[in-house]
Amino acid sequence: MTVVDCNLGLGGHASHILKAIGSEGMLYAFDLDERNIAVAESRLRKIGDNFRIFHDSFASLTDRLRREGVSQVNAVLFDLGLSSPHIDDPCRGFSFLHDGPLDMRFDASSGLMAADLLRTTPEKELADIFYKYGEERASRKLAKAIVEDRSRIEFNSTLQFARYVERVLGRGRPGKHRATKIFQALRIAVNEELSALELGLDQAVECLAPHGHVVVLSYHSLEDRIVKRHFKFRSTDLRDPTDPFGSRVLVSKTLSLLTKKPIIPSDEEINKNKRARSARLRAAEKL
Ligand SMILES: C[S@@+](CC[C@H](N)C(=O)[O-])C[C@H]1O[C@@H](n2cnc3c(N)ncnc32)[C@H](O)[C@@H]1O
Repeated sequence: MTVVDCNLGLGGHASHILKAIGSEGMLYAFDLDERNIAVAESRLRKIGDNFRIFHDSFASLTDRLRREGVSQVNAVLFDLGLSSPHIDDPCRGFSFLHDGPLDMRFDASSGLMAADLLRTTPEKELADIFYKYGEERASRKLAKAIVEDRSRIEFNSTLQFARYVERVLGRGRPGKHRATKIFQALRIAVNEELSALELGLDQAVECLAPHGHVVVLSYHSLEDRIVKRHFKFRSTDLRDPTDPFGSRVLVSKTLSLLTKKPIIPSDEEINKNKRARSARLRAAEKL
């Protein structure tokens, strides 16, 4: 059995997969974060050596597999977003609970940091980022303030930027900092998360063998919406709208849904792991 773990992280899921597939199976894993890969790799080595890790985005799934001579796999798992070290290590710049550089890159070796985006992105584009990826209604107000202020203020620390957002937009609801959605928006933009997900899902379905499974764990509504839409589109025949009987199929469905509604964690699981509270799991089978 050949399995792809698109979000290796610290190798939690991958270790279970490696044990489950046994020495005859093969695991391919992706992650953008070299530090996570190093931890996961030493963990996996204790179980077996029938795995290959790519320091790359899962948006390169088919290309990477093709280069390995693999055309079909039996299962693909996505476990999207951040890992615990991203949140817990202030140096990565994802959280404003502690001060750190405004970075937010999963791959700390390349690409623009959040601070670079704030410094260089045109006002309208910045507002779109806050609105689309953070669902922030006051997106224009914040983008305007940033563009006005950025010639004299350098936005390069997480705490400083979180306080700035609060100053411009006012305090959030009790228990929810005003900068939470803005940090989510910047993180999605920095890592181009939603376009990577679209590409990754397409390629996952493409490389699945018949009866193979694709499973996606997402953590916010923007991701879940993409997965839901993608699975719905792939599990419905595309019919010819000009056919008066509506029976001519132009493109046949390729997936069958295994989850009509997303599976959410139980209270017991949330009590054990608070970070799982927003998880949504959707799964489908290749026809
Ligand atoms: C929720 S964690 C995965 C946790 C992992 N499943 C485990 O059991 O330890 C998400 C991981 O995906 C990685 N990641 C995010 N976007 C990625 C992408 N486009 N391609 C590859 N890895 C990505 C992050 O660096 C992070 O390590």
